[in-house]
Amino acid sequence: MTMKLKSKYEKAIYAAGLLLLLLYCSAEAVAQTDELVINVKGKGADVSSSMYGIFFEEINHAGDGGLYGELIKNRSFEELEMPPGYTAKGDRLIPVQVENHVTGKIVDHYSQWTTEPVPGWSLNVDSSVADMKLTKENPRYATAPNNLKISIADASKPVSLINGGYWGMGIRKDEKYNLRVIIKASSKHKVEVTAKLLSQDGTELAKAPLTGLKANNKWNEYNVTLLAKAHDPKAKLALEFKGEGTVYLDYVSLFPEKTFHNRENGFRNDVANMLAGLKPGFVRWPGGCVVEGATTHNRFEWKKTLGDPAARSGEYSLWGYRNTYGFGYYEFLQFCEDTGAGGMFVTSVGIGCQFRMGDACSEEKIEYYLDDCLDAIEYALGDKNTEWGAKRAAAGHPKPFPLKYVEIGNENWGDEYDKRFDMFYAAIKKKYPQLILISNHGTGGTGKIAKTDMIDPHWYVSPDFFFENAKLFDNYSRGNHTVYVGEYASNNGVGTGNMNAALSEAAFLTGMERNSDLVKMASYAPLIENSNKRDWSVNLIWLNSDQVMGRSSYYVQKMFAENKPSYNLKTNVTEGARSSQDFEAGSVGLGTYSTQAEYKDIRIIQGNKLISLDVSEFKGKKGNWNTENGVLIQTSSETNTQGIFNGFKGKKDYTLEFKARKTGGNEGFLVYFAISDEGKGFAMNVGGWNNTSTAIQKASGEWLSDVISQKNHSIETNKWYDMKLIVKSDEVILYMDGKEVIASRNTSAPKQFYAAGYDEATGEVIVKVVNSSNLPYGLNIKLDGATGIKNTGKIISMKANNEKEENSFENPTKIFPKEEVYNFPGNEFLYSFAPYSFTIVRIKADK
Ligand code: AHR
Repeated sequence: MTMKLKSKYEKAIYAAGLLLLLLYCSAEAVAQTDELVINVKGKGADVSSSMYGIFFEEINHAGDGGLYGELIKNRSFEELEMPPGYTAKGDRLIPVQVENHVTGKIVDHYSQWTTEPVPGWSLNVDSSVADMKLTKENPRYATAPNNLKISIADASKPVSLINGGYWGMGIRKDEKYNLRVIIKASSKHKVEVTAKLLSQDGTELAKAPLTGLKANNKWNEYNVTLLAKAHDPKAKLALEFKGEGTVYLDYVSLFPEKTFHNRENGFRNDVANMLAGLKPGFVRWPGGCVVEGATTHNRFEWKKTLGDPAARSGEYSLWGYRNTYGFGYYEFLQFCEDTGAGGMFVTSVGIGCQFRMGDACSEEKIEYYLDDCLDAIEYALGDKNTEWGAKRAAAGHPKPFPLKYVEIGNENWGDEYDKRFDMFYAAIKKKYPQLILISNHGTGGTGKIAKTDMIDPHWYVSPDFFFENAKLFDNYSRGNHTVYVGEYASNNGVGTGNMNAALSEAAFLTGMERNSDLVKMASYAPLIENSNKRDWSVNLIWLNSDQVMGRSSYYVQKMFAENKPSYNLKTNVTEGARSSQDFEAGSVGLGTYSTQAEYKDIRIIQGNKLISLDVSEFKGKKGNWNTENGVLIQTSSETNTQGIFNGFKGKKDYTLEFKARKTGGNEGFLVYFAISDEGKGFAMNVGGWNNTSTAIQKASGEWLSDVISQKNHSIETNKWYDMKLIVKSDEVILYMDGKEVIASRNTSAPKQFYAAGYDEATGEVIVKVVNSSNLPYGLNIKLDGATGIKNTGKIISMKANNEKEENSFENPTKIFPKEEVYNFPGNEFLYSFAPYSFTIVRIKADK
């Protein structure tokens, strides 16, 4: 480590700092001491104002029973409506049996279904006194036809219809709640109805009669306000009926009077404020897989989300429950405006989720999806004389909304997608050249499309992937398009979301921010879970009926957003060397990804022993495997096909040789090695990412995850390659036709990460440092070329006692950023970063 200290004062301060650090280190071991030199005059790329945004999807009850203010579950009685052609078997919903458009096969898929007869609702009496049943008789709205028929036979005691909300209603003392009821009472019977809020134990919290109820056999609407006397996190609504007779309910809705920005049909204040706290540069909506649907039959339909919430049909969400469509397109655009975010609308291209059924609409119908997308844009941006702009104006917003981005499809891929993308791109650009258009392609290439503005890679991985790949964008090619990392999270092996996950995301974010000429936007996913319905294992914000809290990952996002520099500064780091570890003993296997291939002459050389791997020992786990004249043939187009050689187990240090030929499909070969009995190990992904690169990845069963090393490389179809994979103790090398393709050591992930930039608004250098090690980390930070340094600055730091620590509803701020005033000695200082910490240093300096 070399340092040039100018003045005596600096030297003295530095010596004192070093002494303090050494004293600290003598009590506690230090990981290492490195140096970070920041060139304060070295202006790098601007960091885009929309760099950090949010991704909203109706998953985990993020909207209904989450952000959206509605307190009644199944308010419109539509929950048991199925998408066309779907069937229920017990608690499973089986989709309409449509073929996957790539494989031509019908995928064996199902999702969750409820067995409740009237979800969300119950009567306090038995069926001899009163009975309820769903009907579609004379619906109030044809678009939401279901209603609840209640027949009261015995009026000697009050009959109550109860709704417990989404796992209880969080009712607050002295708050007002607005109830809207659409009801029809038979003219033959006089019926009195009183609305009550009850606590969990049945105590009355509020009461209001539905005065003037007309028994005229017609749909009538009543609005009353309930003022709560006390707080209860698990309250319920009761509609109490007196008098015999028949009543029909079409809609029962209860909202807190106070919503975010006091919007009607608005959002829970506490939840929306958590989102606003992230200072989102953009909001992506409506997802996610819901855009596509399990099949195109239950894709998200934005037009059905407009207008009176009572008339909105809703749709069964592939995440296992019905989306009421209450949080609709208008509400999304309004939220963007309220938070100062740019809107990002994601449109369906007429392809069902390719991880589920993967159907594709016919050629003729593509136009319909394209028009639907153009209408959505017109609704947001068109002036009030346009067809859809007029509808927006009629809904109360004559001015356009801040829609800035359109993503064409979600997680779609392949030739069919590429074709559709080109159609959408050309048509949208022609009409709205100002919009930024995003494709679903990842970092591996853009397939066959003509042009995109941005790509959208997604990463749901284990922490090691982010630690290993924090420099992924440093050498990524520039010029063709920019990058929006639309979904990412460390969600594998991190409990329900621990500090290790948060630190790995922070590490990856330093890489995104440092490469801000390329990476223009990023959004963590999924955003919200109602902790009573966790559809996805790890989510950023947790809530229940009464509380909302951020995981440590939330605070990482917040810290990045609040400390976003105007531009990057050039840095130079001197770090210690990284250690490597041995590959575990295991077996070998072969596979393909969306590709057909043949393998032959498979043998292992171990020391001076040559072992032929007979194809009969190959156990195909996924794919369509056959053998013919000693050639192993895989004919399916599925992703991640796999088979393992049973006869070769628990081995280390070997060379695997074979011949391989691709006979069709999009990608190339998968070569598995060091595979444990549980199926965990590594894979060489040859010609992956649409045949644009070859990588060494971690493998777990058929799934490939963390990229350990990656190179641009592709393979040819119908050509036999001589393959040689050398697996040494801690190193792996792949040769094809005698040429080295890729080599990598099994190195342990780096532990420290950095980014530095300058904030023009405050005149501060902002340094971000992640220390994921269990030891304090000494870093000498040098501000090269800095003048006018103010000694008093800020350090904002979030740390944990161990990597497994998590926030919880009981202790929601256990891991929480703390800010302190810090006296900087000058343009060079040594700082000890705590174990398991993410720290931001802000120092005033002239640029
Ligand atoms: O964020 C959860 C899901 O992950 C999204 O719906 C989808 O786009 C991705 O597969």
